[in-house]
Amino acid sequence: MTNPTEQYYPGLEGVIAGETAISTIAGGLQYRGYSIQDLAEKSTFEEVAYLLIHGNLPSESEFASFKSRLADSREVPESVYTLFRSLPTDANAMDVLRTGVSILAHHDADTGSIELAASVRKAERLLAAIPTLVTAWSRIKSGNDPVAPRSDLDFSANLLNMLHGSEPAEVERHALDVSLILYAEHEYNASSFTARVAASTLTDLHGAVVAAIAALKGPLHGGANEKAVEVLLEVGSKDNAEAWIRNAFKTKRLVMGFGHRVYKEEDPRATILKRFCMEIAPERDATEWEDMADIIEKVMWDEKHLPPNMDWPAGRLYRMIGLETEIYTPLFVASRITGWAAHVIEQQSANRLIRPRATYVGPAAQSYVPITERE
Ligand code: ACO
Repeated sequence: MTNPTEQYYPGLEGVIAGETAISTIAGGLQYRGYSIQDLAEKSTFEEVAYLLIHGNLPSESEFASFKSRLADSREVPESVYTLFRSLPTDANAMDVLRTGVSILAHHDADTGSIELAASVRKAERLLAAIPTLVTAWSRIKSGNDPVAPRSDLDFSANLLNMLHGSEPAEVERHALDVSLILYAEHEYNASSFTARVAASTLTDLHGAVVAAIAALKGPLHGGANEKAVEVLLEVGSKDNAEAWIRNAFKTKRLVMGFGHRVYKEEDPRATILKRFCMEIAPERDATEWEDMADIIEKVMWDEKHLPPNMDWPAGRLYRMIGLETEIYTPLFVASRITGWAAHVIEQQSANRLIRPRATYVGPAAQSYVPITERE
């Protein structure tokens, strides 16, 4: 059926580009009908991962076997470490992660299959292995050996253990876990839509995820959590916050961590994470950062009516729990792999090639002139 209106909306703003049963933002963000407030408060990232990939909350026995499958899939082939060691140490962590996922595709028994069961198996294996890739690169680039994954720790504790070589404090594990719950899924965001477009050609899960990682890297999307911290480092103190933001307006600067295509009043994920930041800031000697952030938020709202997005508090939270800035967007991948996988599986289950039209704005028809006769 052709579109009778042929309306063009720049950036596809407001366009309904498909159907999904995975999440909705109408009436508050919900994953498969569960509010993110409930999930952030009562659930765990592993349970949310199961919900997104399998479509329902697990029973106790389903959850136990899911966790055990994840724990068994955390190791990556030695060739991954060899390749990582051969890369320039200033390689971008998201680019390295994208390469790492590509290598895993070559070692996966189900690699090219788009059968539902194969896609689910691959989704679980990628979910399990991505933290190993992220932390291995972080350690290798700083001259350290990777730390082997541990099967006795949950997803977040294992990730932090592989990063630092020691078990995290509970407050650190919990903070990371909640952030991963909130980063996991967000309807037709740019990277998930990228994954769906790729899947709609009948390519496989690894290919779609590689494309999605490239889309998430950009500073207008996932890359903003790192940039938001750079903003606060530049601001430096709460006394400088108001002058800094007013000067940013004067110079028409894009302030990373603010604004959102679909949230014009409030990003509910940011509200939950800000509360978390405020709770742990005193014990982490970070109240000045919370004050700075607060002043910038107030002036942004009063002057521009722009709310903070999830990346604004996420960057601060990660800094408070001792994480290096360049790992923030890779952590987003460690979480969003669940949403991407759910979208790829949903797309594969009722596929139609995604191929929109464009309004042509190029030159009118021209006659071809052989190169020897061109002016
Ligand atoms: N700083 C300053 N001004 C902004 C910002 C910002 N962060 N965001 C939007 N604006 C301004 C725009 O310049 C525009 O002003 P204008 O009407 O005078 O031209 C107006 O607000 C509307 O913004 P749009 O660009 O139309 O909003 P859009 O929906 O296209 O963009 C986006 C959304 C890309 C997120 C934008 O707000 C932005 O670039 N924010 C900074 C990057 C960021 O934080 N990204 C993370 C997104 S959340 C996530 O991925 C988890």
